[in-house]
Amino acid sequence: MKTTLSIIKADIGSIGGHIKPGYKLLESIREFISKKKQKLFDDFYVSHTGDDIAILFSHQKGTGSSDIHKLAWDAFMAGTAVAKKQGLYGAGQDLLKDAFSGNIKGMGPAVAEMEIEERPSEPFLCFAADKTDPGAYNLPLYLTFTDPMFNPGLMLSPACSEGFKFNIMDVANTEGDRMIELLAPENLYDIAALLRDNERFVIESIYSRSSGEIAAVVSTTRLHNIAGKYTGKDDPVCLVRVQGNFPATGEVLSPYSIGHYVAGFMRGSHIGPLMPVKINSPISYFDGPPVVTCHALCVHERKFTESADVFDHPFWDYIRTKVSRKAVEIREQGFFGAAMLPYSELEYGGIVEKMEKLDKLFKIRK
Ligand code: 13P
Ligand code: 13P
Ligand code: MG
Ligand code: MG
Repeated sequence: MKTTLSIIKADIGSIGGHIKPGYKLLESIREFISKKKQKLFDDFYVSHTGDDIAILFSHQKGTGSSDIHKLAWDAFMAGTAVAKKQGLYGAGQDLLKDAFSGNIKGMGPAVAEMEIEERPSEPFLCFAADKTDPGAYNLPLYLTFTDPMFNPGLMLSPACSEGFKFNIMDVANTEGDRMIELLAPENLYDIAALLRDNERFVIESIYSRSSGEIAAVVSTTRLHNIAGKYTGKDDPVCLVRVQGNFPATGEVLSPYSIGHYVAGFMRGSHIGPLMPVKINSPISYFDGPPVVTCHALCVHERKFTESADVFDHPFWDYIRTKVSRKAVEIREQGFFGAAMLPYSELEYGGIVEKMEKLDKLFKIRK
């Protein structure tokens, strides 16, 4: 019998700006789900990263299950009512449609799912990032699944040595999911050429070539699929299986020591370094920096163990200091050049109107 892991994440309101959801709001989601006794799922786990709430389900209904998606949608709707009552900021922010229509994908929340045959022990990592977009996982996943400098398992483990298959999406294509399948290591330079542009070509999933099993999945979606316009950064989630045929936990975590620059930060319109933070960390400096959390857990017969907070370790304090320095350094140049995203990626409509107004004032010099 197969197990499906579904992580579904949304911002439905937060305290004091885009900082963090309140305790009551988190409790309301937990309560809503635990009261559902219909046996839709086998286990669930609720957590938050910055102002986003993630629900992780384990169930038998496969990926894209409208039952599971509807449950998450209803929980977020119920939470939105609580957020409104409390006067939280941005109540219901990520629920972009009025009514549920079969699949929560494209309705605002971020979704990453995988259907697996459980191993006797099934350890996996559950990443959630805030103030950035799915392209934020391009570099760390690329390094873990292709580069022995970060993942010695690619040399040392026979299964990892067989390489991995990357499914990459062109998120700029509005018509449908435009996908490409590339193999590491032989297509390494092609993979690199695409992933370099992490606002357009985004890893959606990765498979082991030794066993054909799914190794990783990201909440990657087309950008313009909601209301036909650019709707901003989708704070992304990612699931990665570890050990055995997959990289070791520490090999998946190792690239997060870089604190690489990602899109997002203030008003979803800037570039900032991705800071690995402890579970339950709020957002702060310049509505950022962009943050990522990671729960490590096992699923066994569809029940979760308790989770370990892998970025809660003295090593990451040192990295956080480095990332803070990188954040301040890029902020020193304010809105100029590389510090801010290009026009096409700016989340706020105000600048579009401003540019249109200015455009009319330009004259060709005779
Ligand atoms: P195994 O126990 O899966 O062989 O793990 C090796 C390892 O993870 C060392 O980092
Ligand atoms: P969120 O997408 O996390 O709500 O952040 C929005 C924002 O504009 C922060 O400045
Ligand atoms: Mg918000
Ligand atoms: Mg957010």
